[in-house]
Amino acid sequence: MSTAWQAVLYVHLLAMAFFLGGQLVIGLALVPVERTNPDKERLRAVARRFGIGSAIALAVLLATGIAMADHYSLWGSDTLRLKLTLVGALILLTLAHLRYPRAHVLQGAILLVTLVVVWLGVDIAG
Ligand code: HEM
Repeated sequence: MSTAWQAVLYVHLLAMAFFLGGQLVIGLALVPVERTNPDKERLRAVARRFGIGSAIALAVLLATGIAMADHYSLWGSDTLRLKLTLVGALILLTLAHLRYPRAHVLQGAILLVTLVVVWLGVDIAG
């Protein structure tokens, strides 16, 4: 792999780390602390910043992912197609989450689908 394409994959993985890691930190650290020490304003401010960060990460994932799929001629891959379908589902679930921010089932579904998308990404790269 050339250094330039290694850099594209690196950026793809950095965006993935933010997208997945942020969900884990919010779910495992922030929400439990909020439960014992509630501060709705703070939670809302963190959620807003995390939302903006996640939207940027998703845009970076799309741009770098499309570039790699082109470069490695992967558009025929069934695994990539399944991954893209699930990325589409992630976008829809995120829009639904914006509309119904308190629906825990949506947050759980977003985390679960993200984990499957990461698995499929590793599968494609391997
Ligand atoms: C939430 C969105 C996404 C996540 C979490 C994600 C995650 C990942 C991960 C973990 C890898 C594995 C890299 C490795 O093991 O070296 C990967 C690879 C890859 N992803 Fe994504 N990805 C996302 C979106 C996309 C999109 C939208 C595309 C668009 C086509 C895409 C195309 C690819 C390709 C082509 C590879 C393989 C690169 C290679 O062969 O080296 N990804 N992704």
